[in-house]
Amino acid sequence: MKRRKLRDLEVSAIGLGCMGMSAFYGSTDEEEGIKTIERARELGVTLLDTAQAYGPLTNEILVGRAIKGHRDEYVIATKFSSRMDAGVPGDMSSIGPRDGSAAHVRTSIEGSLERLGTDYIDLYFQHRVDPKVPIEETVGAMAELVEAGKVRHIGLSEAAPETIRRANAVHPITAVQTEYSLWSRDPEAEVLPTCRELEIGFVPYSPLGRGFLAGRFTSPDELDENDFRRGGPRFTGENLEANLKLAAKVKEIANEKGIMPAQLALAWVLARGDDLVPIPGTKRRTYLEQNAGAVEVELTEDDLALIDAELPEPAGERYDEAGMAGVNL
Ligand SMILES: NC(=O)c1ccc[n+]([C@@H]2O[C@H](COP(=O)([O-])OP(=O)(O)OC[C@H]3O[C@@H](n4cnc5c(N)ncnc54)[C@H](OP(=O)(O)O)[C@@H]3O)[C@@H](O)[C@H]2O)c1
Repeated sequence: MKRRKLRDLEVSAIGLGCMGMSAFYGSTDEEEGIKTIERARELGVTLLDTAQAYGPLTNEILVGRAIKGHRDEYVIATKFSSRMDAGVPGDMSSIGPRDGSAAHVRTSIEGSLERLGTDYIDLYFQHRVDPKVPIEETVGAMAELVEAGKVRHIGLSEAAPETIRRANAVHPITAVQTEYSLWSRDPEAEVLPTCRELEIGFVPYSPLGRGFLAGRFTSPDELDENDFRRGGPRFTGENLEANLKLAAKVKEIANEKGIMPAQLALAWVLARGDDLVPIPGTKRRTYLEQNAGAVEVELTEDDLALIDAELPEPAGERYDEAGMAGVNL
């Protein structure tokens, strides 16, 4: 597996998003999830992405089980944001309010360490910026965790450019994690240039458009009742009709190159620069293996120009109104 650097943190060129193994994307199979994480290690895909909010808490517990005995062979990224004092594993209604206070940063790390069965986190992200708390306070407390040896690197997710700047002035930010893919290119305007100027790595999440660009589903009706994507603005009504054309184009270009649509979507992200490390999510080994193969796909300038010229604009926001209110803060 090729390697890349997020600032000074060396990682596999693609990571593995573990969220769907426990939450948001319908039915789960813990044992297959664990086997997928083990297979990732064999393939050299050693960057694992999880979060307290996934489950909540159950995804960190699952990752902890999967890495047991091999902790140091993985690079573990997890995230804090909302209060979990009353957090009941698997019960989304038990998640408390967002809290970026220093006090919460100091206590929330302990739960992640315990659930993951480790005494350090490689990359600790604030999942969503808390607009009620100055970012200097949050990052200052995260920096204390670095000093204490509990965290090796710190990151922000879905932070606005100015927040990234202020945060980086307190302590070097190793990575910013934000949605970025063939149909979510907003970071190109400001977030990516800001990261590049400050030498911060970039971790594109949902690089497969939550599976839609990979052809995983073509209608929300194919998804389980409890799948978060069923109500996604891009997957419903007229937007879905328009976006099916986009996904069909991805498939067509992939077919012409003799690769899978997921591989085209990942190779495109990888081609945006060596400072990007996408974290495609999957619950299963088959997709993981396919996705790992994307690092060997070379897209030419002609391929990239064709994609720019032929892919239609996506229809619909990437989150509903409440979700959009929590990003770019
Ligand atoms: N920071 C944040 O706010 C944030 C938000 C969302 C996600 N994330 C992180 O980013 C990771 C990735 O994002 P994501 O999971 O939302 O979306 P994604 O990676 O764009 O897509 C995941 C979906 O694609 C499917 N898939 C994966 N590989 C495939 C392949 N080769 N062929 C066909 N389908 C394939 C998966 O199917 P199966 O489920 O059937 O395997 C899953 O439904 C998450 O796991 C999570 O760690 C972070």
